[in-house]
Amino acid sequence: MSDVAVAVTVNGERHELTVPPWETLLECLRDRLGLLGTKKSCDVQVCGACTVLLDEEPVSACTLLAFEARGRRLRTIEGLAEGDDLHPVQEAFVEHGALQCGFCTPGMIMATVALLQENPTPTPDEVKHYMRGNICRCTGYKSILEAILAASRRLAPGAETGRGA
Ligand code: FES
Ligand code: FES
Repeated sequence: MSDVAVAVTVNGERHELTVPPWETLLECLRDRLGLLGTKKSCDVQVCGACTVLLDEEPVSACTLLAFEARGRRLRTIEGLAEGDDLHPVQEAFVEHGALQCGFCTPGMIMATVALLQENPTPTPDEVKHYMRGNICRCTGYKSILEAILAASRRLAPGAETGRGA
């Protein structure tokens, strides 16, 4: 099969690419665009390490083909901070020590951003349910849960940050 033309917006920047039809979105982001924040771990949509937002919906970049993103908007972990200002979800993860090796963290944070856009004030059980596809192998989930709830308080309508999830 011949290569496919793909126009896609990644973190607000438009890219015109030509990709083999079998290239995954994860390969495209990491190897073609140099966006190494999105991690490859299980490679079979089990661990959540490769979570990115496609038109603001969380998807596993390891099992989506790059051409399936054509004409759509992608956000990766590189697209969250504004200059030197971390996104409130990133800040909450740092403040609560919700990372150890950090390998799962980009996927956790992108899933959290999606969760809080969908449900700005989740209960702890709702957080656990939503995040069930994101696996951490080293730091444990208590601090991650606390970070997500703290981010929710910070981003909730009427809170002071004024920055949407
Ligand atoms: S690397 Fe994609 S879900 Fe694990
Ligand atoms: S912090 Fe190491 S896998 Fe989650």
